Amino acid sequence: MNTRVAAPRRVIVAITGASGAIYGIRLLHALRRVGGIESHLLVSGAGWLNIQHELQLTKDDVHPLADVVHSVRHIGASVASGSFSTHGMIVAPCSMKTLASIAHGLSDNLISRAADVTLKERRRLVLMVRETPLNLAHLRNMTAVTEMGGIVFPPVPAFYSKPASLDEMVDHTVARAMDLLALGPSLAPAWEGLNGAA
Ligand SMILES: Cc1cc2nc3c(=O)[nH]c(=O)nc-3n(C[C@H](O)[C@H](O)[C@H](O)COP(=O)(O)O)c2cc1C
Repeated sequence: MNTRVAAPRRVIVAITGASGAIYGIRLLHALRRVGGIESHLLVSGAGWLNIQHELQLTKDDVHPLADVVHSVRHIGASVASGSFSTHGMIVAPCSMKTLASIAHGLSDNLISRAADVTLKERRRLVLMVRETPLNLAHLRNMTAVTEMGGIVFPPVPAFYSKPASLDEMVDHTVARAMDLLALGPSLAPAWEGLNGAA
């Protein structure tokens, strides 16, 4: 009898100081719902600022949503090494500063180091970049990350799904981002086409 239990798939979630902290929080909830996933959470200092400002949540509220929480200053953490196997990483939301750091391979904190490792190990990296309007540095950094194999996924809401609430709108975007990690069957409802359209 094979008594080996399948190891949980590890997903790294980083929340940085761009507007839209709710994306990272809803993502943690969604990963819990999928099951069989070990989430590793990294939150930058500015990320905590925005979590507090936009959602009025504290560390005590957020930490229990993840399986493992790492300080972004702990550069010796497991997720800093490619030998620590993960399924991929999502930065939700991703500030232009963190985007720049990843695009230039700076590895100057645990978030950009974990992203660097994810890219070098050819694992999935999804960046929910959020800024508007965009300057040339932002655009060039997005191009660079795309050339390295990362996926630039601005959390642009889809109105065709006719969301009834902000949570529904956010959850639709989160499901689309999670689908890019290929964790299992699609979480976002498939577009069936317009009835009666020409
Ligand atoms: C309330 C607030 C909203 C912000 N929104 C954005 C944003 O949408 N996009 C962005 O790139 N930076 C935004 N910033 C600036 C970043 O937080 C700042 O550049 C920070 O240094 C990013 O650091 P991090 O990437 O380590 O989190 C915002 C800052 C604050 C205080």
